[in-house]
Amino acid sequence: MAITIVVGNFKGGVGKTKVSVMASWELAFERNKKVLLVDMDPQGNASTLIARSTGVTEINASIFDGFKNGSLKECIVPLTDNLHMIPAQVSFKNLPKFLYANVKEEIDQVTYLKRLLDPIRDDYDYIFIDVPPTISDFSDNAMMAADYVLIILQAQELSLEGAETYVKYLQFMADNYDADIQVVGVLPVLLRPGGRVDVATIERATELFGEENVLKNVVKHQERLKAWDVTGITNKDQHDNKAHQVFIDVVDEMLEKLKHFEEAGKYEWVD
Ligand SMILES: Nc1ncnc2c1ncn2[C@@H]1O[C@H](COP(=O)(O)OP(=O)(O)OP(=O)(O)O)[C@@H](O)[C@H]1O
Ligand SMILES: [Mg+2]
Repeated sequence: MAITIVVGNFKGGVGKTKVSVMASWELAFERNKKVLLVDMDPQGNASTLIARSTGVTEINASIFDGFKNGSLKECIVPLTDNLHMIPAQVSFKNLPKFLYANVKEEIDQVTYLKRLLDPIRDDYDYIFIDVPPTISDFSDNAMMAADYVLIILQAQELSLEGAETYVKYLQFMADNYDADIQVVGVLPVLLRPGGRVDVATIERATELFGEENVLKNVVKHQERLKAWDVTGITNKDQHDNKAHQVFIDVVDEMLEKLKHFEEAGKYEWVD
């Protein structure tokens, strides 16, 4: 049974998609896990990046078709044995209209993705969901479908605004829809070139989220990570190597935490 993880923060451009894609990538290629990456963002950035990186030039499948047909199986794109994706296109922006027109109960609207994922969860070890930076039907559906959330902390901002809003939203979803989702960790990400970890920000995050929840690994700005948007993910030289290693470390730390949580009883641990 897959462990489903959503990468969250309600700010644009903080590295959510990069983290979803790279965590999926390292789990599949470096840790031999079966991974499904679900693109819940009509921008389709995760789909484009991962397709480009595996040599897929044309994507015909669409998550929206899966929503309309009531089954996601047909829109899974198997990129490699271990790495599959469900891609999104801009037309998926009409998801809210579709849900309001076709699904009567509010609870059924927010749990639509959850129900669609249920029949395929056994096929994977991990399912990652990439979401847009908005409080919307997209994020609601992702949250209800996920077991864990990895919160992105934009580490150069004292306000921690996007991450804090996310925690309030988690509480709202738990109160209103009985969402059962656990924070697996808070990952500091620094996107400014040459940026140092802002000690004050990390301290503030530690106060807010608890020391045990803030990951020890930090994703720093690396030109190579940005370049991969254009070239696709490569593994040819020392810069590639360094960029991969960051996410291998993040994934390993996350696996440790998941193991701890799962042993504590949420689900049976899959090794
Ligand atoms: N560690 C990094 N070093 C350098 N560039 C990065 C890093 N992480 C992400 N980027 C770049 O920053 C930009 C934003 O990243 P990304 O698309 O992952 O953010 P996002 O939070 O998913 O954005 P959105 O809210 O629009 O979905 C992209 O151009 C990406 O390549
Ligand atoms: Mg994104």
